[in-house]
Amino acid sequence: MSSSAGISGIGRVLHRAEDVEAVVRRLAARIAADYAGQPLLLLGVLKGALYFTVDLARALAEIPGGPSEIVVDYACIASYGNSTRPSEVRLLMEGSAPISGQNVLIVEDIADNGFTLESFRAFLQERRPKTLRTCVLLDKPARRRVEVPLEYVGLVVPDAFIIGYGLDYQEMYRNLPYLAELAPPTPESR
Ligand code: IMP
Ligand code: MG
Repeated sequence: MSSSAGISGIGRVLHRAEDVEAVVRRLAARIAADYAGQPLLLLGVLKGALYFTVDLARALAEIPGGPSEIVVDYACIASYGNSTRPSEVRLLMEGSAPISGQNVLIVEDIADNGFTLESFRAFLQERRPKTLRTCVLLDKPARRRVEVPLEYVGLVVPDAFIIGYGLDYQEMYRNLPYLAELAPPTPESR
């Protein structure tokens, strides 16, 4: 496959689409059991957890005896930072579902340094949920700078930049149905 010079491309595939589906179903089974008979608010973090939240919500719907009702909502968070400085985390859009008194499950694409989840959890705690837990598709523990509780983890990934299934590189590649490493840019000229 050819790609434009200077643009980082799709590298090694880490998890195929069917493997990601199986991971989502496995997470849904655990969540369904833990929240059986109780209402649940799935709060997806945009944009990375766009697909993950949808697929998790649909997988939950297929499991009998799960939560009594499921509400899906999204918040949008942007984090800016690099490997040496803590990210600046900004909440760009708040969800519309009430948080107070609810069983809130944050659905996030990846726990990297942890600042995004730490800051979002603190924001939600102020709104007094009944319970607050976090479900991440991916955990990249090698890069963690702040400890955050992760009750549900889909896959542990190596210290590489990952794209696909919602995860982007400069807003590209989110729509890939699989998870891959980002390949280094091709030379400008050869
Ligand atoms: P944090 O470093 O844990 O605060 O994560 C910040 C955000 O960076 C995550 O929600 C992702 O959207 C993004 N991110 C972290 N690691 C990767 C990666 O490997 N690929 C794509 N996005 C990432
Ligand atoms: Mg994200």
